Amino acid sequence: MLIRGTFVQCPKLGELVILSDWLAAVDDSGYITHFENAESSTSLELQHVQTALILPLGTFLLPPFNDLHLHAPQFLYQGTGLDLPLLEWLHQYAFKAEEKLDRDPVLARTVYRRLGQRLVKAGTGAVSLFGTLKGDTNMILAEEMQSTGIRAYVGKVSMDISSRPSYIEASSSAAVDAARAFGEKLEQTYSVTSQSRPSFVHPVITPRFVPTCSDELLHGLGALSAEKGWRIQSHMAESSDQVEWVRKERGEDDIHIFKKHNLLTSRTIQAHCTFISSSSSSSSKPFVDLHALGTAIAHCPLSNIYFSASRAFPLREALEAQTKIGLGTDIAGGYSLDVMSAMRMAVAVSRIREGERVRTVSPDHGKSLAIDWKESLFLATLGGAQALGIDSGIFRVGAPFDAQQIRLFDPRSGIGAGALDFFELEMIFTKVHEESYEKPDLTEEMIEKWWCVGDERNREAVWVQGVKIFG
Ligand code: GUN
Ligand code: FE
Repeated sequence: MLIRGTFVQCPKLGELVILSDWLAAVDDSGYITHFENAESSTSLELQHVQTALILPLGTFLLPPFNDLHLHAPQFLYQGTGLDLPLLEWLHQYAFKAEEKLDRDPVLARTVYRRLGQRLVKAGTGAVSLFGTLKGDTNMILAEEMQSTGIRAYVGKVSMDISSRPSYIEASSSAAVDAARAFGEKLEQTYSVTSQSRPSFVHPVITPRFVPTCSDELLHGLGALSAEKGWRIQSHMAESSDQVEWVRKERGEDDIHIFKKHNLLTSRTIQAHCTFISSSSSSSSKPFVDLHALGTAIAHCPLSNIYFSASRAFPLREALEAQTKIGLGTDIAGGYSLDVMSAMRMAVAVSRIREGERVRTVSPDHGKSLAIDWKESLFLATLGGAQALGIDSGIFRVGAPFDAQQIRLFDPRSGIGAGALDFFELEMIFTKVHEESYEKPDLTEEMIEKWWCVGDERNREAVWVQGVKIFG
């Protein structure tokens, strides 16, 4: 496949590149084999042999979003029940909903199918999912994700401690065995050799968080991940009451407990990490440690506003320590499954932190704690891909062709798509017939407007590894 048009991407934090009139060639396995200006000599040769798909004016391609943290069964009650602090919320809503799906495979399939459809529409190309305790229900989740074509990392949740007696595994060893059985079954079912197309569904070792996992369980899961090379995900230092609970019951902090059990690896994503530094001054030491371990953080700003409200995540400090960071929606602790919402929240929260710093600490020096929209777009795309250890998130030769197609305006009238309006552009288009005029290139401001105001109406297609999964 040849595709010609405007490509937009963030090759590093804070950098946005607009490549006007570029050409990508994608091979039969879905990898990019050529990526250059569409008028270069090699590009012209390629277009001589094969007709390129040409994107209309006002449309661009961007890498899809990566959602690093989402509880699939909690999609059941998305947008409700956000009135309690974390530990009570888990008991009152989360465990109940998960147990409900474990008892009702028809309901589970319905919820997971809809979730898959909505993720694809929201431009999510890869997602790291928490499921439930029961292996079979997680197989339904894997099946539904595989059929959407999205890259899905499916976590069978492990817990041998629970406030809900009917939602717990029988023992630490039974829980480790169940995690192994699920991972092996998933790999057998979706092995590369049994499919014409490579599988995009993989198992993730998923100790829920320290309060629901004994040391024996954490130890067993750390060993299992090392043996199998499977990814790991959990929650770390999410809320002040959770951190206090762990200190009191276990005499240590989350980070030390996870580390001791070999659960902080370069294959690990830890959600939140809001209260990871012990003092209220945000020391960057733990972030430096995570960077050294190669462990990534899923920053979930909307969920943090509800459950970590007494403190905002020290995002700038974590970025400065070069910790791998991407964004998570944390359905249903966060109510929106749209990563665009997570980007906006990340910017908003960071701006409040910066305002606070200027007011109370030092107005003049130090790097701003606020991130801007371009930095958030990096986190949502390449940052998230690096956290997941996948090669996408950027267009370059050798990478899989993962992309979303965004329409900003109508190529004939200049009228904005969806919620967007570009009034000056419309004026230019009305004069097209009077004067000789140049086709307007997409500008950074147009993309910024989409980032602020755009929504699903602007999304025309999504590809994962060369296959169109939406549009
Ligand atoms: N910590 C442990 N489990 C959960 C969960 O389901 N959601 C959130 N936000 N935090 C958790
Ligand atoms: Fe979560």
